[in-house]
Amino acid sequence: MQLPGNILCVTLGGHSGRVAEQLLGRGWNLSPVTDLAAAGRLQAHRKFSLGLLVVGAEPDVAEESMEACIAASPGAEWVALCEAQALESPAFRELVLGSFFDHLLQPCDLRELEMTLGHAAKRAGLRHRNEAARRCAVDALGMVGQGPAISRLREQIRKVAATDAPVLIGGESGSGKELAARAIHQCSPRASGPFVAVNCGAISPSLIQSELFGHERGAFTGASSERRGFIEAASDGTIFLDEIGDLPIELQTNLLRFLQEKTISRVGGVRNLHVDVRVVAASHVDLAEAVAVGQFREDLFYRLNVLSIEVEPLRRRMEDVPILAEYFFQRCIAKTRTRVKGFSRQALAAMLAHEWPGNVRELFNRVQRAVVMTDRRLIGPTDMGLEAVENVAGMGLDIARTTAERDVISLTLTRVGRNITHAARELGVSRMTLYRLMEKHGIALESESRLQPASAWSPAAPVIRPTPVARVGDSMDAMMKSPAAGYRSDWSGAGKPAGRA
Ligand SMILES: Nc1ncnc2c1ncn2[C@@H]1O[C@H](COP(=O)(O)OP(=O)(O)OP(=O)(O)O)[C@@H](O)[C@H]1O
Ligand SMILES: [Mg+2]
Repeated sequence: MQLPGNILCVTLGGHSGRVAEQLLGRGWNLSPVTDLAAAGRLQAHRKFSLGLLVVGAEPDVAEESMEACIAASPGAEWVALCEAQALESPAFRELVLGSFFDHLLQPCDLRELEMTLGHAAKRAGLRHRNEAARRCAVDALGMVGQGPAISRLREQIRKVAATDAPVLIGGESGSGKELAARAIHQCSPRASGPFVAVNCGAISPSLIQSELFGHERGAFTGASSERRGFIEAASDGTIFLDEIGDLPIELQTNLLRFLQEKTISRVGGVRNLHVDVRVVAASHVDLAEAVAVGQFREDLFYRLNVLSIEVEPLRRRMEDVPILAEYFFQRCIAKTRTRVKGFSRQALAAMLAHEWPGNVRELFNRVQRAVVMTDRRLIGPTDMGLEAVENVAGMGLDIARTTAERDVISLTLTRVGRNITHAARELGVSRMTLYRLMEKHGIALESESRLQPASAWSPAAPVIRPTPVARVGDSMDAMMKSPAAGYRSDWSGAGKPAGRA
């Protein structure tokens, strides 16, 4: 068995220190410590993928401190080795059940322990690969959003990127089809090759053949030299055929031949050139309908539609609107000197009540316009050309609930100095539930979280500037019931370190 490296071994109390020695003696790459402070110092500098907690009969360390130690190595798998007596404690049992890959009882067979560590290491490796794949997809192009629709889209992008088959991307105008196409390319083995985007609807029908397939010298009047077309230019990479539904029917035949034979011939040429290009196409019109009315070749449709992806319209993923707005706001102010600090609560409500027929592009344009046009520190609905909403209930119950939940967690954590136990007690949930909720909302345990760069998966780990509405003892429900309470009054605070404007 190849022994995994980077194991943090924390031995707490009792005579159990020998386990670390034995594992070291058998060649395990172990960093042994005997108290949590030492573990914390190591964790601050090193990333551990595996942890072994060795606990005597009566460890004089609180479970919450052990929990904090586990949380300080995110992505690591932990194995507990404990005396049976330690499991008498309900808190310790809860900890083992919630945070450990497995547990073994003392005295334990060393081989069994090694096997368990091996399995845990495999799982940690899998988790790591998963994370890396996710990051890869994010890094591709900064696809912002954290709702279920965008998570699904990322997952689909990751899957289709691994193959070489054509992909057809559907979705309304401005929803992010080109962004998805670029992400597919950048996550694919062709990432180091070119990505060539062609808007089939924007090139005049008389030129599109030579633009796509190239032409030989003298092929037509004005063709004074030979020229490679977009398909050749995309050799070893990806060609993105946007608005494929606008491709004239006679060119659809040529494209079909290219998809079937992987060869093209330039206009005026006689040679068949082999080109290795992956095709990703997009259309905002329903191509199946275009086929039904005879505007699109059925055989080409089936060739292109081997893998299909649908980008949801923004109105079906409204939970991403505030995050996208904040992301675009940060991008807009990055290069300008401005006193605009963010969005007013009314602007947020108006955004959440708007239907977004122009999707993400419309949101970007409205934010851009608002940053330029507003005279105030906080952007209002009219700055964005949106109608003010009288009642914040207009934001929809689901979104209001999610927003309030995230805000009250962030506020509580800030107030109690990010002590999980105290925060969980105040919120009336278990620590495990609180960890789960923090993960769901992307809230980091450490206080410094900032809006991630364009490449980020989850763009903002929200750290909300404290507002006077949160009082000690406010339960989540109470926060929900007051429309004035719990809602962010200034969205520019999201993702910035607390206290910063
Ligand atoms: N999830 C997202 N995160 C960040 N920016 C996004 C996201 N989705 C779309 N955008 C941005 O919105 C704009 C429109 O996206 P894109 O051009 O990909 O849409 P489209 O579906 O191809 O539009 P069209 O149908 O009009 O060609 C772009 O500026 C893009 O970067
Ligand atoms: Mg497009």
